[in-house]
Amino acid sequence: MTLAPSSTFPLQFELTPSQDAREEAEREVILSDPGFGKHFTDHMVQIDWTIDAGWHAASVIPYGPIQLDPSAAVLHYAQEIFEGLKAYRHADGSIWTFRPEKNAERLQRSARRLALPELATEDFVESLKQLIAVDGGWVPSAPETSLYIRPFMIANESFLGVRPSQRVAYYVIASPAGAYFTGGVAPVSIWLSTEYSRAGRGGTGAAKCGGNYAASLLPQQEAYENGCAQVLFLDGETGEHIDELGGMNVFFVHRGDKLVTPRLTGAILEGITRDSIIQLALDRGLTVEERDVTVDEWREGIASGEITEVFACGTAAVITPISALKSPDGTIGDENAPAGEFTMSIRQELTDIQYGRIEDRHGWLTRLG
Ligand code: PLP
Ligand code: COI
Repeated sequence: MTLAPSSTFPLQFELTPSQDAREEAEREVILSDPGFGKHFTDHMVQIDWTIDAGWHAASVIPYGPIQLDPSAAVLHYAQEIFEGLKAYRHADGSIWTFRPEKNAERLQRSARRLALPELATEDFVESLKQLIAVDGGWVPSAPETSLYIRPFMIANESFLGVRPSQRVAYYVIASPAGAYFTGGVAPVSIWLSTEYSRAGRGGTGAAKCGGNYAASLLPQQEAYENGCAQVLFLDGETGEHIDELGGMNVFFVHRGDKLVTPRLTGAILEGITRDSIIQLALDRGLTVEERDVTVDEWREGIASGEITEVFACGTAAVITPISALKSPDGTIGDENAPAGEFTMSIRQELTDIQYGRIEDRHGWLTRLG
């Protein structure tokens, strides 16, 4: 099967304005306390793909339910991928996003793994601009708030055979966002899943596909039951190395200006926040090691003082301090430990770039509106 990038490049978008867009006053009430992923803007993007026509019918339409045939492939075989990025309002009112070409490239890699068609980077970035052009008023301006943007692609061919869908749709929805964790930037405890993995060798761990998250829900529930905010997964092959959290990558701060993070094994999602933190740490003159990390190293490192801080990172969570790792075998770290100094300073630097408070020296920002 040929996965045609698009029939006409770049795509031209058509707008159908919503007839029941929220009034400004109603929107402002929502923006004053957005939570995470609870409210959605008035419009969404849709682009269709068929094996014959490639990408076509790019449109911005009123936000609303998607009609799917009960036999649509996505409902049975989970042929679905998604992305997550944010739009930030700067002090002058302009709206920016962070390294969107990286999200476009990751969506393309996820598409290849899930036998879905690739969407060109230019069309991906344009789809964000088109949505912001009509729903820019939904980007909040209070400190540390943003508009979380969720592009996704589903297989919508009506057919029960197990083969790649010949009909696909790409959508972009957006949701005003405050802190991902209810406690804000406060340190969180995480739960070590000893029974379940989220990815295996040759599997879909490096793809951002719904199935990976479905596999993480039961252990995530176990985490909640044990008073933890997230679940930590070990590698599926040996069960010895730390992979990542259900929705975030993980970093260890070592004594003597060293940062350590699990290497990209093909089973870990290549986080854009992870990549950015590595760059910012190198800029500060830190040593960065991408390598295998075991739970024993974590335990011994905390005990000896070699590991001084641990933190999680991702678009939704930004950078969140991890105070302790809990498991049936006991707790590593101290649940009441305060946020680490490096964690908070790298978080400050990253968000200062994203919100335009300091120079964007790596050219990471793209203006959306
Ligand atoms: N790992 C997983 C499993 C995720 O879902 C995410 C979030 O997207 C990340 C890592 C962090 O990726 P990013 O920094 O690109 O948001
Ligand atoms: C993101 O950070 O964008 C994610 O997709 C993770 C999810 C936990 C919301």
